[in-house]
Amino acid sequence: MTTVDLPLLPLGRGIDRGSERGVECPGDLPAASDPSLVARALAAKQALGERVFVLGHHYQRDEVIQFADVTGDSFKLARDAAARPDAEFIVFCGVHFMAESADILTGPEQQVILPDLAAGCSMADMARLPQVEAAWRALGEAGVQDLVVPVTYMNSSADIKAFCGRNGGVVCTSSNAEVALEWAFAQHGPDTKVIFFPDQHLGRNTAVLQMGYSLDDCVLWNPHLPGGGLTADQLRAAKVILWKGHCSVHGRFTPEVVDELRATIPGVQVLVHPECRHDVVLKADLVGSTEFIIKTIEAAPAGSSWAIGTELNLVQRLAKAHPDKQITFLDKDVCYCSTMNRIDLPHLVWALESLVDGAVVNRIEVDPETERDALVALTRMLDLPGKSHKD
Ligand code: 13P
Ligand code: SF4
Repeated sequence: MTTVDLPLLPLGRGIDRGSERGVECPGDLPAASDPSLVARALAAKQALGERVFVLGHHYQRDEVIQFADVTGDSFKLARDAAARPDAEFIVFCGVHFMAESADILTGPEQQVILPDLAAGCSMADMARLPQVEAAWRALGEAGVQDLVVPVTYMNSSADIKAFCGRNGGVVCTSSNAEVALEWAFAQHGPDTKVIFFPDQHLGRNTAVLQMGYSLDDCVLWNPHLPGGGLTADQLRAAKVILWKGHCSVHGRFTPEVVDELRATIPGVQVLVHPECRHDVVLKADLVGSTEFIIKTIEAAPAGSSWAIGTELNLVQRLAKAHPDKQITFLDKDVCYCSTMNRIDLPHLVWALESLVDGAVVNRIEVDPETERDALVALTRMLDLPGKSHKD
């Protein structure tokens, strides 16, 4: 098997536009200290009017989210992007794989802009197409490839989504992973297997905690080991082949902190994102996507106490919006997503003002062949029956 070992580029450097890794900003950014940035962003948005549609993921900074026309988790934003065929420019305040998905789901004349090209995702970087193709070949050599349905988390590059589209698979997000896996397991009868990219935790938490598979039904494919570190017998016996990837933000939460908070905050309810480790999710009261986390807090009674395990911008915003509830972050240290945080007000102002001046900067454009196949997998997701109860 080929092992592919690509060193991460330092954020904000280099010219690797095709990957989730950082690239430098090609323009003259306004200074972060410029006191007129808010007024400039407002003026540019006003000048562009209906021509621009600004999407903001829940993990974005306050200074950016205030300019979003819609906010959401990655599933909602994919739907929202597809629902605005009239907008000439989609400015995506999120990370690279989300902007790619928006480009795939919008018309060819619509242009998707990521204000800072260094806003990648370390998890998406953990599954590269040559690595995925090597795993697929190993499944062929083990004689089970025809039974395997590839499922990729939205947090993956467009070429991984295209791989899934070409090979009978589907995309999922943290808000519909269970429905997507149910669909996948129905594809080839009772012997169906799933290979799940790139987040082992979302895959494991969904298969075991929501669908009733056992931990023994799951094996872990390590793309850095020959044969994924698995024997052909292990591949044949597995129901779920999990890719060894994780989120560097959600991977920080630990069961020990859950225990500490339960001991210090009487009646605290622990609410976590399914990208958290299995041992953390096992100790939580509730698990769901960012959209689910927000709705849960909105519906919670005044006086209730919550410890939330997800990105810090969102947790801080929830705490500010609900002063009648006690909201605690589920970590002792600061835990922003550094790449989500790359999108700041200077980059947003620069992107919007450039559009006003007639220059489209930082356009994210997926090549037509990848787009065609990725659209198959994304459309399968959008067509899934209903949504999970975690919507
Ligand atoms: P959701 O938006 O699906 O909740 O995912 C969280 C995330 O990590 C996005 O990068
Ligand atoms: Fe990627 Fe995790 Fe950041 Fe989401 S929170 S963009 S999964 S690193």
